[in-house]
Amino acid sequence: MEILTDLSSMQARCLDLRRQGKRIAFVPTMGYLHDGHLSLLQEGRQRGDILALSIFVNPTQFGPKEDLAAYPRDLKRDLDIARRAGVDLVWTPTPQDVYPEGYATYVDVEGLTDTLCGASRPGHFRGVTTVVCKLFNVVQADLALFGEKDFQQLAVIRRMTRDLNLPVEIVGMPIVREEDGLAMSSRNVYLSGEERRQALALSQGIALAQKRACEGEHSSRTLLAEVRSLIEAQPLARIDYLQICHALTLQEQEKVDADAVLLMAVFVGSTRLIDNSYLL
Ligand code: PAF
Repeated sequence: MEILTDLSSMQARCLDLRRQGKRIAFVPTMGYLHDGHLSLLQEGRQRGDILALSIFVNPTQFGPKEDLAAYPRDLKRDLDIARRAGVDLVWTPTPQDVYPEGYATYVDVEGLTDTLCGASRPGHFRGVTTVVCKLFNVVQADLALFGEKDFQQLAVIRRMTRDLNLPVEIVGMPIVREEDGLAMSSRNVYLSGEERRQALALSQGIALAQKRACEGEHSSRTLLAEVRSLIEAQPLARIDYLQICHALTLQEQEKVDADAVLLMAVFVGSTRLIDNSYLL
């Protein structure tokens, strides 16, 4: 496994691989890898000749009061996981390399970023799309893999890729959950034992809504009220948003159909968790 830090070396290496006709599968991450990332790496390993991974805690997607400084990092552990997953090329750029002095260019996807996490975290998606666009320009991957846990992020990246005609296939991969249902996230490490227990309300809320929708309850208002009271029964849980939206437009839907996705962000203690699922 080759580990590169320098941006121009990574770009030159990837260009060279492309010239050799290699198909590059790329998994962009912020590190602190878990089984959700592993599923992306495994799929990328199947689909590409070369599997590339980036590890970069991107400062521009964190708000001033968010957890940039505290974001969990463990490069040695990440590199062990990457090695075992068969990664060929790891890129660990520095913030100075990605955003040099005088940096002034940003990518903004309009509309799709106004709601849900975009409304709660102003500027977040501008940071995500900017860095992902830059990572794509360096790695020049044939395909890039992202988790569906960040449902809105995936929709926004797909739109950016389409709108800017970026020559990369975007592959979304299903949420990976702990045995008890909690969606895997690097931020789960912040949870205390009691918070971890109460965080199960997110996946339990999803299971409840799915069950009720399958039984024939298709009113979003009714389903959201039921999920809300389940989550709010946990004293440490505070709902940031809870919505049923169309999977492509992310606009709220009154009636649940095959395109309806339940999306939620919930603070458990001070940790903000997100989760989602189709309902039918
Ligand atoms: O999902 C993430 O880990 C990040 O938002 C991403 C896509 C790597 C951009 O920093």
